[in-house]
Amino acid sequence: MDFLSKELEQLKIDSLYRSPQILESKQGTSAIINRRKYILLCSNDYLGLSNHPKLIEASLAAAQEYGTGSGASRLICGSLKIHAQLEQGVAIFKQTEDAIIFSSGYMANLGVISSLMNKGDLIIMDRLNHASLIDGARLSGAHLRVYPHQNMAILQKILSSSSIYRRRMIIAEGIFSMDGDIALLPEIVSLAKHYQAMVMVDDAHATGVLGKNGQGSAEYFGLKGRIDIQMGTFSKAIGGFGGFVAGKKVLIDYLKNTARSFIYSTSLPPSDAAVSLKGLEVIQTEAKWREMLWANADYLRQQIQKTGINTLNSTTQIIPVLTGSNENTLQMADYLYNHRIFAKGIRPPSVPKGKGRIRLSVMAAHTREELDYVASILADGSKNTTV
Ligand SMILES: Cc1ncc(COP(=O)(O)O)c(C=O)c1O
Repeated sequence: MDFLSKELEQLKIDSLYRSPQILESKQGTSAIINRRKYILLCSNDYLGLSNHPKLIEASLAAAQEYGTGSGASRLICGSLKIHAQLEQGVAIFKQTEDAIIFSSGYMANLGVISSLMNKGDLIIMDRLNHASLIDGARLSGAHLRVYPHQNMAILQKILSSSSIYRRRMIIAEGIFSMDGDIALLPEIVSLAKHYQAMVMVDDAHATGVLGKNGQGSAEYFGLKGRIDIQMGTFSKAIGGFGGFVAGKKVLIDYLKNTARSFIYSTSLPPSDAAVSLKGLEVIQTEAKWREMLWANADYLRQQIQKTGINTLNSTTQIIPVLTGSNENTLQMADYLYNHRIFAKGIRPPSVPKGKGRIRLSVMAAHTREELDYVASILADGSKNTTV
């Protein structure tokens, strides 16, 4: 196994080595690391719901009622009432006919894409799409074509020569996880209609965030009923764990019968399902978290932009601070860490080569003092490092 240490050594030389950082406290707008307090700016718990008393109570109550594990996969005996209630809750939330839940967002993407697409089909996706979407496309065996980020002209060009394929599917993220911009969904939907392609949107980062009621990108753009496959995850703004797909009844029925990551894996623990159900309720009844999140995101972005730092085209709670090379990215991440700010440096393959960045993710409960401090340290950091 010598090759493993050699490859790991090379990752270190290339500034691409990674290791998990252990948090010694729960995640709020700050966390304890190595017995010290850090401002946390890389959690996807955007609304702070994972510490909401109602969600914690739902988790405990479900464990008491159903036990801790679900015992089997959904099509054996792992379909509990709470799973059915969650699927119904998702369908109501997303305003679709039906929904299916998976054990994670990653598994939802693998399952839905590999189930619907096959050899002889064409998948067209944005260059910045998440690894789980790329992996789903690879697993499907369909031909994969990628268009430059948000470039509708190239998307159209690819579609215009796609009639030889049996099926076509366009896939984009509702809010792009690394750039923090919003997909051009109205344009994608109208191109799809013209060229008879399906549209799949991954709303992992848009669920709970976009739209008046937090229902995601379809609500935000007024595209109800016009997006074939709406995927999302419970693990970010909803404050829980698991993934889902919402759409027409026939789609959900098909997925339940063919999506291998649904069929061949034990279903979500009941407490996770209960947390997500409660999270959906809180998102729809407590708009203040979403309002605070947007106010904070706009504020931090403005403060950072005032210093001349490049935040790409972000308009959401995800704010990239472009650092470029792997070395610069690590240098800036270390600088922040030395000033008690925990925000990860993102390097390839999560982002294109040379487009390293600090990916800041704002939370509803960050205070203005915390955000001001972060903006000032970033400004100092860009002077005191090679960024
Ligand atoms: C865009 C996107 N899709 C899917 C996923 C996977 O979701 P989960 O964490 O629930 O597996 C993520 C999570 O990192 C994501 O950012």
